[in-house]
Amino acid sequence: MGLDIKIVDGTLADEAQVFRADIGISGGKIAIVAREIHERADRIISAAGSYVLPGGIDPHVHLSLPFCGTVSADDFSSGTRAAACGGVTTVIDFAIQGPGTVLEAVRARRAQADPEVCTDYSLHAGITRWDAQTQHELPAVMECGITSFKLFMVYRKEGWMADDFALYEVLRESARRGGLVGVHAENVDLMEGLTARLLREGKTEPRYFPESRPAFIEGEAIGRAVRWARASGGNLYIFHLSSAEGVEAVAAGKCAGVRVCAETAATYLGLTDERFGEPDGHLYATCPPVRTAADNARLWEGLMKGEIEVLATDHCAFSRAQKEPGRHDFTRIPYGMPSVEVNLPLVFSAGVSAGRMSLPQFVRLSSTNAAKLFGLYPTKGSLQVGADADLTIWDPRQERTLRAGDLHMRVDWSPFEGRVVTGYPRMTLLRGEVICDGGRFLGTPGSGRFLARGPTQYPDR
Ligand code: URP
Ligand code: ZN
Repeated sequence: MGLDIKIVDGTLADEAQVFRADIGISGGKIAIVAREIHERADRIISAAGSYVLPGGIDPHVHLSLPFCGTVSADDFSSGTRAAACGGVTTVIDFAIQGPGTVLEAVRARRAQADPEVCTDYSLHAGITRWDAQTQHELPAVMECGITSFKLFMVYRKEGWMADDFALYEVLRESARRGGLVGVHAENVDLMEGLTARLLREGKTEPRYFPESRPAFIEGEAIGRAVRWARASGGNLYIFHLSSAEGVEAVAAGKCAGVRVCAETAATYLGLTDERFGEPDGHLYATCPPVRTAADNARLWEGLMKGEIEVLATDHCAFSRAQKEPGRHDFTRIPYGMPSVEVNLPLVFSAGVSAGRMSLPQFVRLSSTNAAKLFGLYPTKGSLQVGADADLTIWDPRQERTLRAGDLHMRVDWSPFEGRVVTGYPRMTLLRGEVICDGGRFLGTPGSGRFLARGPTQYPDR
C-alpha cells in the first residue's frame, strides 16, 4: 500500500499515553501507527525531536460576529488561518438565532463560513427565543449535526438572553437526543444593577469594569444552571469559566452527580484585572472579565484535577480602533479578545514545558475532551487508525516572543504582547494536508469542512 505521507521519528501523545511511533496517512486519514513504517510514501516528514499530537479543537470562537455595534475583526478565513498557525484544526463558532428560526440562522452562518474556512468547523445553535416553533425545530437542528446549544444568561438588551425556563427546557429536550447545552453564565440582574450604580456614580473608566461583573455573579449563575441540569437530566457545559467561585460551582455540581463540564482559556489563566488600570485597559474587556491571580491559580488547579475539561478561547477579536469608543466608558467597549492563535502555545508553555502538565493531559484538554463532548470523537481528537489526519507537530524547544505583528489574527494588538513561550507548533496538518509549516500558512479558504456532529460523550476524568 502506498501512503500519501509518513511522519517519522516523532514522539506521539494521545489522551492516554506517550509513545515513539511513525504515522502513515492515506486519503486524509490515519492509516497506520507503528514503531516503524516500511511502506513507501509520497512525502516523508521528519518529526525528530518533536511531539505529534491530535490537532487542537477550539469549541468557542466568534468570527465575523456582529456585537456591541461592530463586527468582530477576524472572519472565517483569517480566524481559521490564525487557528491553524496556533495548532488548531477544528473550531466551533455559533449560529445565533435572530428574528428568524434557528435553522435559518444555521443556513445563513454556513453560507458565510463554508467558502472561507481554512480548518474544519462546526456551529453551536444559539437559542434566543424558546417558543413552540423553536421547540418543534430542535430535533431537525440536531439531525443536521448541530448537537450543542448556547444559551446566554446575560445580554438582555442585545436580544440574546434566554431565561431560566428556556434553559431548563432546552436542557431537558436536548438531553433526550444526546445534546449538550452550553451557557454564558452571569447573573443579568446583578450585572445590570451594578453597572447602573457605577454609571450613576460617574465610575465609567475601564478600571471599574470588573466591579460591574464580579466573580459572585458568575458563581451564582453557574450554580443555578447546574440546578436546572440536575432537575432536567440535561448535559451542561460552562463556556469561558473565569473565576474560583465558578470552579467551585462546577466542582460541586460534579460531586452531586450532575453532568456538567467546563472550559477555560489562556486569557483567564494568565491575565489579571490589573490590566484594566493600565492606559490601554479598555482593550482587555471581555465577558466575564479576567480576574485575580488567585482565580488564575484555581483555574489551573481545576485543569489539573479534571474539574475543567476543555481549553477554548472565546476568540472575539476587535482592533484598537474598534475598541476606542470604550477608552473612558466601559459600557461602550466591544467585549472580547484575540487569542485563537496563542491559546495552545501559552498553555503548552506554562503547563507542559514548565513540567506541571503531562502531554496526555494537554491532549485531553486541547483536543480529545472537546471531541468527545461535541460529538466528534474518534474522527477528531485521536490518533486512532481511521481518524482524520488532523495533527500538530510541536517543537517543545522552540522559544517565541509573542508579538501581534508576527501573528495571523486580524488585529493590531495582543493581550500577550511580549510574552515568551517555550514550545510552539512546527507544522499543522488538516486531513493529511499541511496547512501550516514553520509559521507559514499553506491552506486554502474554503478547504475546511462543516462537521455534522453526533451525540455528546462525557469524557473520562
Ligand atoms: O466578551 C465576550 N466574551 N464576547 C463574545 C461573546 C460572548 O459572550 O461569548
Ligand atoms: Zn459568552
